[in-house]
This record gives sequence, C-alpha cells and structure tokens, in this order.
Amino acid sequence: MKRILKWIVRLVLVLLVAAFLFVFVAYWRSTNECGKTTAPANPMKAIVRCDYGLANLKLEDVEKPVPQDDQILVKIRAVSVNPYDWHFVEGTPYVMRAMGVGLRKPKDIQLGVDFAGTVEAVGKNVSQFKPGDEVFGGRDGAFAEYVCRRAVGAVAPKPAGLTFEQAASLNIAGITALQGVRDKGKVQPGQKVLINGASGGVGTFAVQIAKSFGAEVTGVCSTRNLEMVRSLGADHVIDYTKEDFTKGDQYYDVILDNVGNHSLSEYRRLLTPNGIYVLIGGGGANEQGFLGGLAKALDAAVYSKFVKQKMGMMMADPSTKDLTLLADMVQSGKIKPVIDRTYKSLSEVPDALRYLEEGHARGKVVIMVE
Ligand SMILES: NC(=O)c1ccc[n+]([C@@H]2O[C@H](COP(=O)([O-])OP(=O)(O)OC[C@H]3O[C@@H](n4cnc5c(N)ncnc54)[C@H](OP(=O)(O)O)[C@@H]3O)[C@@H](O)[C@H]2O)c1
Repeated sequence: MKRILKWIVRLVLVLLVAAFLFVFVAYWRSTNECGKTTAPANPMKAIVRCDYGLANLKLEDVEKPVPQDDQILVKIRAVSVNPYDWHFVEGTPYVMRAMGVGLRKPKDIQLGVDFAGTVEAVGKNVSQFKPGDEVFGGRDGAFAEYVCRRAVGAVAPKPAGLTFEQAASLNIAGITALQGVRDKGKVQPGQKVLINGASGGVGTFAVQIAKSFGAEVTGVCSTRNLEMVRSLGADHVIDYTKEDFTKGDQYYDVILDNVGNHSLSEYRRLLTPNGIYVLIGGGGANEQGFLGGLAKALDAAVYSKFVKQKMGMMMADPSTKDLTLLADMVQSGKIKPVIDRTYKSLSEVPDALRYLEEGHARGKVVIMVE
C-alpha cells in the first residue's frame, strides 16, 4: 500500500513538472512578428504594438494589405474605440492570453475594429461593392490607413446622410445595443426597461433604441450625464452617485447592464416574474483580473437555471443586416450617435484609448484618419 502511494506521489510530481514545463515553453514561445519583418515594400501607417500595454502603442509603417478574391480594400476615413480594444491592448482579463491572444506578447500586432471609409479596390469575386463606394463596419486591424475585409459580414454601405465620423461609431456599440434590446431583451412596447451605464458608447444607443421600440426607459448614469441621457429620450434617470437603483421599489421587464456592478440577486429582485436581465459587460481596464466579466457570465449561466427570470450574458454578432438597420435608424432620425470626442489623426489613437480606459466616455470616441 505504502509503495503504491509512493508511486502515485511520484506520478503527480512528474505531471506537475511536465505541466509547468509546458506552460513555461508556451510562454517563452509566445511571440509576434515584431523585429522579424523587412521594411514594407508598399507601406501604410498603422497603430502597432510589440508588447501589451498602452505605452507600447506606436504609429508605424506596415505593409499595405492587398485584397483577396472575396475581399475589399478600404481606405479608412474614421475609426472609433471600444472597451473591446483596450482588452486587447492590455491583454486582460488574463484568460484571454491563454485562449490564443498571446501569453507573453500579443500575437496580433495591429489593433482596432470599428471603421468607416471608401472602397479603393475589390477582389475579382466581389459584386457587392465597387471602388469609390463608402462603407462602414468592423475588421481587426482597423487602426490603420487601409484595411482588407471580406465583402460579406460586418460591412455595409454608408448612406450619404451619415458622416464618416457617425458611421465609424456604429459597429460594436450600436450592434450591441440593438441586439441587446431586440434579440436578448425582446423589448416590447410599453415595457419598463432599465439601462445601467446609460451614458457610454453602448448605453447612449440602447436608450434611444429601447425608446424607438416603445419602451418606458430608465437610464442610470452620473450627475453630469443626467440631462444628456434625458435628452436621448429616457423617461426616468437615476444618478448612481446619489442613489442605488437596486434598493428602489420599481420593477423592470428588462435590465440591460453595461456596468455589472451589482450582484445577480440584486438585479433579480428588480425583475418582473418573466423579466430578462442582459449582462453586456462591465469592469474597468484595471479591474479585469484573470476572468474579468466572464466570472459574472458564468455565475449568471448557473444562477438562471434556478430562477424563473432569464439572466445571462450576450455577445454581439455584427452583421450587414443590422449595420444597415442602424444606418437607416440614424438617417430617419430615430437614433443619433452621441460623439463625445473626435481626435484628428491616427497618431492620437493611444490618447483616445487612454481616455476610454478612464471609464467615463459620454457616448462614442472617434478618431479621424486622414
Ligand atoms: N457583450 C458584448 O458583446 C459587448 C459589446 C460591447 C461592449 N461590451 C462591454 O459593455 C461595457 C460598456 O461598453 P461601452 O462601450 O458602453 O463602454 P464605455 O463607453 O467606456 O462606457 C463608459 C460609461 O460607463 C458609465 N459608468 C461607469 N461607472 C458607472 C456606474 N457605476 N453606473 C452607471 N454607469 C457607469 C460612465 O458614465 P459616468 O461617466 O457617468 O460614470 C460612462 O458613460 C464594457 O464593459 C464593454 O466591454 C460588451
């Protein structure tokens, strides 16, 4: 018996050492193309980073992309920043790094997603767009002068009535708000909807979209944003610096949560018997730790099994159809992108991200790319 125990202990030790070596080797092998490439033959400017951290972002020359047969090449005119970007800049929550983003160094050296611009060239199989068309949407590596992306998916024609600045603000925040209200929250006319974090990128769209669906909207924001959120159509506003909305006696059919700063049982207490809680995100750039918002998402997945209400996290799913719908809503005046700041050149992307990381943007932060 003693001998068997001894062998089990040895086996566990060997497995532990092997696991340690595996992680150690994976960590040191995690690298990127920084310093390995020759000077670009056909250069364009792009924001690149060799290591994690805001201080490591630089505007540099990289190879201008060439569209494949099913791709379009877009000359970018404006981009916007999202918390999604700072997750990649910082490499947090850390679980992201283990999930393929790069353990020691970021695998992908370019950043950015949301863009608006003009099609410069198209691949031979592309029939949806032609050179000169104005488009907007999302593509990794958008903090650059040019981006190539497939002609289908998260890209749509930009109506002439929208500026590049407005169109660049729509992709992540607008789609998230639309799908949160329509698909996850299933908001119906006359329903009471609470939006926690009503003054940020997602919140400012969500307030307007929920109103356009005929809901009675309550927006939660800080004192300086009360008037702005009211002006977007919110029927009620709650100042989170003065009042804890979870202690109130109002019930809601739908709660859209961009902040994630209360417990699931506190949110559930506010829901009507068939109410829906949609976790969109939360946690500042310095609060992500190992799991970040995923911890609450996992909690909600388990918790919702034991309660009548629906409670869970949503993940936005960009599509041409929803981008087109959002653009139509802007054109028809149903929604208006709230643009907090507009930076004037690509070199200011780090400043824009620094501002966003502070966590108090009022609507969207856009950067023009000349
Ligand atoms: N699940 C998805 O698919 C998805 C998609 C997009 C975004 N997200 C996540 O959703 C969250 C919001 O994104 P965003 O683009 O709206 O971010 P954002 O623009 O940076 O939002 C900042 C806003 O949050 C407000 N805020 C901060 N603390 C608050 C509090 N305690 N109570 C109420 N409001 C508070 C700030 O208002 P004050 O200045 O008044 O404090 C500010 O207006 C992020 O965590 C993001 O990662 C998830």
